[in-house]
Amino acid sequence: MNCKTAVILAAGAGTRMKSAKPKVLHEIMGRPMVSHVISQVRKSGTEKIIVVVGHGAQEVQEALSGEGVSFAVQEEQLGTGHAVIQALDQIPEEGDVFIVCGDTPLITGETLSKFADHHGKSGAALTVLTAEYDDPTGYGRIIRDADGRLLRIVEQKDADDEEKAVKEVNAGMYCVSAAFLRESLPKLTNDNAQKEYYITDLIAMAAATDKGAAAYCAEDADEIMGVNNRVQLAAAAKIMRKRVNERLMMDGVTIIDPDSTYIDDTVEIGSDTEIGPNTIIKGATKIGSNVSVGAGCQIEDSVIEDGVDILKSVVKESHIGARTHVGPFAYLRPGNEIGEECKVGDFVEFKNSVFGDGSKASHLAYIGDADVGNDCNVGCGVIFANYDGKHKHRTTVGDRVFIGSNSNLVAPVKVNDDAFIAAGTTVTKEVGEGALCVGRVRDYTEEGWVDKKDLKREKLHGSHREKK
Ligand code: UD1
Ligand code: CA
Repeated sequence: MNCKTAVILAAGAGTRMKSAKPKVLHEIMGRPMVSHVISQVRKSGTEKIIVVVGHGAQEVQEALSGEGVSFAVQEEQLGTGHAVIQALDQIPEEGDVFIVCGDTPLITGETLSKFADHHGKSGAALTVLTAEYDDPTGYGRIIRDADGRLLRIVEQKDADDEEKAVKEVNAGMYCVSAAFLRESLPKLTNDNAQKEYYITDLIAMAAATDKGAAAYCAEDADEIMGVNNRVQLAAAAKIMRKRVNERLMMDGVTIIDPDSTYIDDTVEIGSDTEIGPNTIIKGATKIGSNVSVGAGCQIEDSVIEDGVDILKSVVKESHIGARTHVGPFAYLRPGNEIGEECKVGDFVEFKNSVFGDGSKASHLAYIGDADVGNDCNVGCGVIFANYDGKHKHRTTVGDRVFIGSNSNLVAPVKVNDDAFIAAGTTVTKEVGEGALCVGRVRDYTEEGWVDKKDLKREKLHGSHREKK
């Protein structure tokens, strides 16, 4: 069974975050917390998702504009029960509804499905998701009678010492019949420590009906963790990273030190790829098989093909062809198409450029706004001068071109196939196919000049050694 409709509560201020940003927009793995909740709710088979917004409503709505959810606005944050009332007119008359908090980013679609199944089988008017915590501080406690029957939920702030000792907590997620919701929500009162309309009071109301209230205990207590402050935000992010790393390792990826490896849940990595320590891999990145990502790399929104080898480098929004070698200390800024079996060596920076198969820039070069063909050699210290102070221009280089060390290619300029640019040349005009281009002052040597000027330097090696 699954719930076709879900209400996600995301209107609270999140006071404990001490932030100008609404709590549910605080990010884990580069995505707002609530967006993780939305993905998992959808995974469980839910079709219609209503997000209740209030504090920072516009900001939250904008952040979730691409998620295919609808919104209900809670003008004043009068409690979780009051929040659900705002969504009532969008909830179908029949069937069951999930109510989920926007601040529980670790919940999984799998657990939500099992939860809905349990609710369906029990026939209860309402089922609450629970978990056992050694330290239940801050959560609502699940109160049962001597026979273990669910009675009610009591909030931390309203609980007496005996109730506070209960270790079974409320996850803040409910599976409830739409009919029961309509009937019971108007009966909520705010007669409690926080003067709020608590959704949790529905449990006692459901327990008093013929159908009763049920509870489903999550197998993994981590999944229901609520994030109310930044300490919990970091703890939740750590758990999520561990999950991602373990899934990847089970799928055949070697992660040398999972504790220092930060991979987003959106990243795909092929088998027999090895990821070194202190590495960050983000966003829509796809890495092939047999790739080596050495220690200290940062890769964002990029596609890395099979057999690539990257050492201590930063790669953003780029495509790197198979068996290419990158780094150490290369910086690929957005927009590059690097071919197969290329070499992007140390201290090489690329931006918005194409680099053909087999081409090499082994050290210290800037290649920006360029289309470089296959099997070229870009020497040490070469600069593609793409900016005239006002506008950016492109440079085109054909196949098998040799660009000698310390040359400048002043864009817009074209160098045709098989051309040879001598070291130290500044190229400003088109270079023809197979042509040599030399643009530098010829050097001049005068024999015996140093002695003539009496400028012979002292032999320093010896004097250094004597000092020791
Ligand atoms: C709530 C539960 C508690 C449970 C815990 C699980 C209540 C009264 N308490 O407590 O039993 O153990 O979650 O994490 O429900 N929200 C609104 N409008 C409001 C108030 C809150 O939309 O007027 C939203 C918040 O944005 C948040 C969620 O509801 O996403 C939960 O609110 P929060 O204040 O964090 O409740 P807790 O104190 O954690
Ligand atoms: Ca909370």
